[in-house]
Amino acid sequence: HDADGPAATSGPDPFASEFDLSDPAFITDPAAGERWLSGPRPVCRGKFADGSDIWVATGYQDVRKVLGEPTLRSRPPGDSHRQSMLSRGVPEDIVDMFDSTLLTMDGADHMRVRRLVTRALSARRMQALSPAIARVAERLLDGLAAEPEPDLIAHYAHPLAIIVICELLGVDEEYREQWREWSETLAQALRPDPEQFAPAVRGMAGVTRKLIDARRAAPRDDLISELVEAQEDDSERLNDDELVALAMVLVQAGHETVRNLIALGALALLQHPDQLRLFKENPGIGDRAVAELVRHTAPVKHTFRRFATEPVEIGGVTVRPGEAVQVVLAAANRDPAEFEHPERLDLTREHNPHLGFGRGAHYCLGGSLALIEGEIALTSLFDRFPDLRPAVDPAEIAPRYLLAMQRFPVLLSPEEE
Ligand code: HEM
Repeated sequence: HDADGPAATSGPDPFASEFDLSDPAFITDPAAGERWLSGPRPVCRGKFADGSDIWVATGYQDVRKVLGEPTLRSRPPGDSHRQSMLSRGVPEDIVDMFDSTLLTMDGADHMRVRRLVTRALSARRMQALSPAIARVAERLLDGLAAEPEPDLIAHYAHPLAIIVICELLGVDEEYREQWREWSETLAQALRPDPEQFAPAVRGMAGVTRKLIDARRAAPRDDLISELVEAQEDDSERLNDDELVALAMVLVQAGHETVRNLIALGALALLQHPDQLRLFKENPGIGDRAVAELVRHTAPVKHTFRRFATEPVEIGGVTVRPGEAVQVVLAAANRDPAEFEHPERLDLTREHNPHLGFGRGAHYCLGGSLALIEGEIALTSLFDRFPDLRPAVDPAEIAPRYLLAMQRFPVLLSPEEE
């Protein structure tokens, strides 16, 4: 077989164990998750974080099929999911909120809400934000230089991502720090524990409602004002819960992801000095380079689940109505059947139909913004600090399957030890 492929072993198949998102090893052990991210496996059974059964698709074609299959839905069937959340103690207002996000809507309802945002986040409009994003990056780099213990996540990637999305939406500065704390709580609430996340979700919803009321009274040049205006147009009517959920999802989806892209992208470049040199010496390479970083580093490892409404065949197994499928984008993006030498970081890769932003009806709405932010953030970073390097062994700070990189201490100048 291919020299780069896995070595043949005669012992027990390490993949025979289930893909189990409820297993704490997915948070504590880098190896536990890694093997599910590094390449495709046949469709198999697994467990979701709440212990329920799922099918797991990791091959490129299998993942494409799942995401493009109209009979697979994002909303869990019937009332069972709702009931199960309620029975786990999730308060009803929070369940309602989860039920009205884009990511758990389907069909005409989903299109109605999605249409509102598609135009607002178009590639051309996002391009116009570039100078503002570059200013934010420069300001944060000034701050990074002044830090006694500079951390690329705490002092750069995270604030950059949250400032940009908050500016775009129109979330006033006074709420941003609090929002960052809430979103951290949510990101760390890996087990569905309502005690932990309910106050954060309620806090975010409260601020969002306040902002919506304020923009209704006095519109500004921001996305919340635009959504409020669209809400008043009868043909696109959104109810208030949907509007709140939409604004919240945009802030959440728009910053954890970009934070990961910047941090993981910087680490990947530092670990591939030839690619870093290419990146620094070819300013025009940005777009393609960042797409490759998305493919290779997988800022979002898997999508939300999809639920079968009819029997559907995926990779040789039949998924029955009511059953759930989880796709692992990270693995699909390392499928040697689609990508030549998928394990290589190759910023000049020409054929790169990666699935890092998903595919189909729920394809990422912020893809253009993410690529622009990633490019500006990484270019500005390495321009300012050409000698930047990790201050600790990268193995110490590596992400886990279910836990993003938490810290990234760096050294900025050549003479530091
Ligand atoms: C959906 C990835 C940045 C907003 C998605 C999905 C993926 C994804 C994989 C599909 C989820 C599914 O099918 O279940 C990423 C990555 C990003 C990124 C890797 C950065 C590197 C952003 C940004 C925004 C955003 C910056 C906002 C401005 C959204 C929204 C959806 C979405 C609203 C839901 C779309 C729908 O359900 O119709 N993203 N995203 N994302 N993303 Fe992103």
